Amino acid sequence: MCGIIGYVGHRPAVPVVMEGLGRLEYRGYDSAGIAWIWQGALNIARASGKLSALESKLATMPAIMATCAMGHTRWATHGEPCERNAHPHQSNDAKIAIIHNGIIENYQSIKNSLQQKGYIFKSDTDTEVLVNLIAEKRKTEPDMLHAFAAALNEARGAYALCVMSLDEPDVIYAARASAPLILGIGTGENFIASDIPAFLPYTRNVIFIEDGEIARVKASDFEIYALDGLQTVEHAEQTVQWDIQAAQKDGYRHFMLKEIFEQPRVISDGLTGRADACSGTVSMPELDNMPVPEKLHIVACGTSYHSGLWARHLLEGIAEIPVQVDIASEFRYREKLLASPGENAIFISQSGETADTLAALRLAKKHGLPVMGLCNVVGSSIAREADMTVFTQAGPEISVASTKAMASQMLALALMAIYWGRRKNTITSAQCKELVSSLFSLPRLLDDNLPQMREKARELVQKYATFHNFFYIGRGFCYPLALEGALKLKELSYIHAEGYAAGEMKHGPIALIDPSFPTFAIALENELFPKVKSNIVEAEARAGKVIVLTNPGMEVKADDIWVIPGVKSPLAGLVVLPALQLFSYEMADYLGKDVDQPRNLAKSVTVE
Ligand code: M6R
Repeated sequence: MCGIIGYVGHRPAVPVVMEGLGRLEYRGYDSAGIAWIWQGALNIARASGKLSALESKLATMPAIMATCAMGHTRWATHGEPCERNAHPHQSNDAKIAIIHNGIIENYQSIKNSLQQKGYIFKSDTDTEVLVNLIAEKRKTEPDMLHAFAAALNEARGAYALCVMSLDEPDVIYAARASAPLILGIGTGENFIASDIPAFLPYTRNVIFIEDGEIARVKASDFEIYALDGLQTVEHAEQTVQWDIQAAQKDGYRHFMLKEIFEQPRVISDGLTGRADACSGTVSMPELDNMPVPEKLHIVACGTSYHSGLWARHLLEGIAEIPVQVDIASEFRYREKLLASPGENAIFISQSGETADTLAALRLAKKHGLPVMGLCNVVGSSIAREADMTVFTQAGPEISVASTKAMASQMLALALMAIYWGRRKNTITSAQCKELVSSLFSLPRLLDDNLPQMREKARELVQKYATFHNFFYIGRGFCYPLALEGALKLKELSYIHAEGYAAGEMKHGPIALIDPSFPTFAIALENELFPKVKSNIVEAEARAGKVIVLTNPGMEVKADDIWVIPGVKSPLAGLVVLPALQLFSYEMADYLGKDVDQPRNLAKSVTVE
């Protein structure tokens, strides 16, 4: 959580940093701030609330000509969201400023010892403790680099940090421990940020800073040091393929809407090079050198967890691989990980930085499980720590609510199931061909149907926007989609929603159904349709209103029927998904909620 960016170069730094913060705001948006050094003084501007509040504040100031600046957009961990707790924080002597993404776990004991030395703290944050620790170390260390390293050697926890000092006004120091930090390398200018889109208009050449490293960044060059010993470290420069177009709204009202409508493209990109429409085959060269897993653990959080639950139906159904799906925040504290040879674990994460998923991956590695990442962000922590990673190629996902990333994960997992199914011979080449052909039909089908789906979602929202509770129900592969539909409604429109396996309703939840508690039922054309239909009838018998998402020709009665095109199960999930996303999107927009940046959330959950 939190976005940080530092710039040092030849341009006016404050506008560059503010622009970068705009592209990092998805990481946190309860306050923002910026620091720059000008004419021998350290300046800081901060504002509570969204970045626009900081922009308004800066607009009242004379033009700032500094060419070195750093900025922060916050998702509160320590201390309430208010200006006093907003970053940057500065040392008591007003010589050093810091911005921080993460948590310093031992901040209280450091704070106590600094207070005994006379330090005064104006905020409730762990970050203000760290900047004063650096200032304290600077009294005895020969330069900022050594003072920074000495302070970090005492700090425990997770961080991505940038530090500026009056000692060296044209330098930004940065360091990383379990939080993303990327160096963007320009010509006569350099950037350091939590995520690549922050500096994408200026450069696509990057270095991923590793845990335990410090970067010293100047306009013309940079050095990277190992925190332990301060010897210099060399990293190869990489070029990222994302372009700035992909990180902009492109005329859509919200990023979320744009990203929902990008799903046909995401599916066709994900198929390119992995599936062949003519021969009906799937190739996943990344997986060629590993044996087909005898059992799979899938571990993830939130929407990525729902992808895993959905994929279990394919991996078991197509490749006959037993699958256990776990929530990462639970998996990471498993007392015993009973894993046998032949088992593999897949860690799904759009960002590749989710703290719980990363900790779960480390636990699995410790227990000797081969670990695979399924990530969208190249160079992310999970991608780098996994034994191997499959990339989902969804492009940057900016909206906090995950949409196209889920579609890309589902596609990659479907391809894995087909690929392993062929290697194990659990499906014939004809069955493979049929599945591949269904996958290739999806982009066109979605392109043709998404506009109507949006219209239907709008129509339903006008009818259901006054309800405060919803059930989402489904069976089989539609159950994870019901969970996802409920999650989307909750996080975007703040309407209480529960996803349930339709067959579980009678074991308790059905008691809640009355005219004020509608049910969104996913009842597709498959062998479970009659069962879901019975559950719909049961809800209606309790005077509950029901919306049914179904396929053409299915006989079902309900208050509202929403017909979407049928596709071979469980790939039909890729058509159900945008319908659920659009319903939540339209609901949130209709209710006037902040669609792209829902309250209390952040895109990348890098704290536990
Ligand atoms: O980056 P990850 O895929 O690891 O993120 C996992 C969840 O935090 C994420 O899917 C979250 O649930 C989204 N807000 C859902 O829209």
